[in-house]
Amino acid sequence: MKRRPLLAGNWKMHTTVEDACHLAAEVAKCSAGLSDRDVLLAPPYTVLTEVAHVLQKSEVLIASQSVCWEEEGAFTGEISPAMVLSAGGTAAIIGHSERRQIFHEDHEIINKRFLGALKFGLIPIFCIGETLEEREMGKTFEILEEQLREGLAGVDIKDMKKTVVAYEPVWAIGTGKTATKEQAQEVHKFIRTLLAKMFEKAIADSVRILYGGSVKPDNVDALMAQPDIDGALVGGAALDAESFCRIINFI
Ligand code: PGA
Repeated sequence: MKRRPLLAGNWKMHTTVEDACHLAAEVAKCSAGLSDRDVLLAPPYTVLTEVAHVLQKSEVLIASQSVCWEEEGAFTGEISPAMVLSAGGTAAIIGHSERRQIFHEDHEIINKRFLGALKFGLIPIFCIGETLEEREMGKTFEILEEQLREGLAGVDIKDMKKTVVAYEPVWAIGTGKTATKEQAQEVHKFIRTLLAKMFEKAIADSVRILYGGSVKPDNVDALMAQPDIDGALVGGAALDAESFCRIINFI
């Protein structure tokens, strides 16, 4: 089954208002006319509105880098789905390994964020991935299965259609070490097979599974040629307009 590719840039904790507007304008320019793929940017919260403004006439989508499950209230430091929507976003990254590792977000919190995003109509981009230690201990599949089962607990089958999964091996994030195309394909296939067991085959076949972890202009084409890789979640290379534009225009 052919799935529509999604190329997503996660800006993490980078960009001032000025940098963000400039970068977003470049991405809008180089993605114009690409009708066979989706492009998405996940800027910091402080620039969501400005970036949405710059992207107004483009097809580029906007995501927040995380999201709370409540509509509003006493949740210092958080952002609600309604706020993301009102700023022009339509999606939210959930469970990024930096949230899991640095900020100790556990399965329960991640699951709440996931369900909250769906409840308010945001597309969840759900990140999973093993550490180097887990891979070396032969636990990759076990860890990914736990992350998927716990993170997606209670998700309605009809909502799975909207969900995007991102496989990001922690050892490949920001390290310059990419999983080989064979390693990535093996894991993506495992994820899709597991989703078929957890939900149903038609759903598993329609869910887009992105690869993330040191995606660069020189490895994107090979990764995107794999049958179960439907896109990329890009960190470092998304901060450089030329690199990200090459990635968006993968062959
Ligand atoms: P990277 O980050 O491309 O810099 O490895 C990917 C990510 O964390 O989403």
